[in-house]
Amino acid sequence: MEIVTICSTKGGVGKTTISYNFGEWLAANGNQVLLIDLDQQCNLSQLYGLESTSNNIGNLFDKLNDEEMSVYHTTSENIDIIPGYKKLHRLIANIETDPHKYFFLFRWFRKNYETVKKYDYVIVDCHPSFDTLVKNAVAVSDVLFCPITPTEHGYDAKFTFMDDFVEYKESEAIDMSTEESYVRAKVYYIGNMVKHNTESSRNFLKIIENNPEVIAVLPNRELFNRSTLEHTPLVKMERSDESKYKRYASTYKEIDAEFKKMLEAFNH
Ligand SMILES: Nc1ncnc2c1ncn2[C@@H]1O[C@H](COP(=O)(O)OP(=O)(O)O)[C@@H](O)[C@H]1O
Ligand SMILES: [Mg+2]
Repeated sequence: MEIVTICSTKGGVGKTTISYNFGEWLAANGNQVLLIDLDQQCNLSQLYGLESTSNNIGNLFDKLNDEEMSVYHTTSENIDIIPGYKKLHRLIANIETDPHKYFFLFRWFRKNYETVKKYDYVIVDCHPSFDTLVKNAVAVSDVLFCPITPTEHGYDAKFTFMDDFVEYKESEAIDMSTEESYVRAKVYYIGNMVKHNTESSRNFLKIIENNPEVIAVLPNRELFNRSTLEHTPLVKMERSDESKYKRYASTYKEIDAEFKKMLEAFNH
């Protein structure tokens, strides 16, 4: 089992779009995938029509409720999900004084190991922040994918994220007895929404060109918008018989190659 958290302190950089399309791509290629929606906007859950189920991530963070949280099977083959919860921020406010506040998700994984061990990949979609909630995801992760986009501030976000991450790893998530960090995640960046004909994209590509932490670059393609609007991942468009999806063959190929590069992050 590999756990990947898709996070960034910036909104609108493609976290949910990548969680969905990369997750579905892994599933379509024969992997068992568990999606976890940690964003109270519940955009990922909405893609599966599961934005208001009572079995949701809130049960895990709710100290006043011992209702068990279980995984939810979706109608997509090989994909299960733990849906999001719209009032999650209120529950997080309640745990801020708990000494184990960063390890709620960690404990759930340990307790439910028999259930979760069947998954080849767990993908955690986050809200734009590096708060207690995201730190819970980081504490269980093998890998973090941080989307960065070719705007002036988009590239800055890479560095603010790294500062937060290092502080958390080296100062907060420390086992007092061994003085070692609980955080084992490796951080990688995914260039996203990259155009080929704009000045900002050209500059961006130049900057990331020789940076081994940037492991993939996803192009700016209208098809990504379409995939979320139509609740259909690119990999299913590619394999569909519908003529409306046929003309995007070169885009599918292009993205397939980038997703393969993202997969390699687990073997580094
Ligand atoms: N590579 C891409 N090309 C074109 N549009 C994209 C791409 N990635 C994401 N988008 C669009 O950008 C918007 C924000 O994406 P989203 O995944 O919701 O971001 P986040 O989860 O980081 O807030 C959405 O409308 C989405 O369809
Ligand atoms: Mg999102």
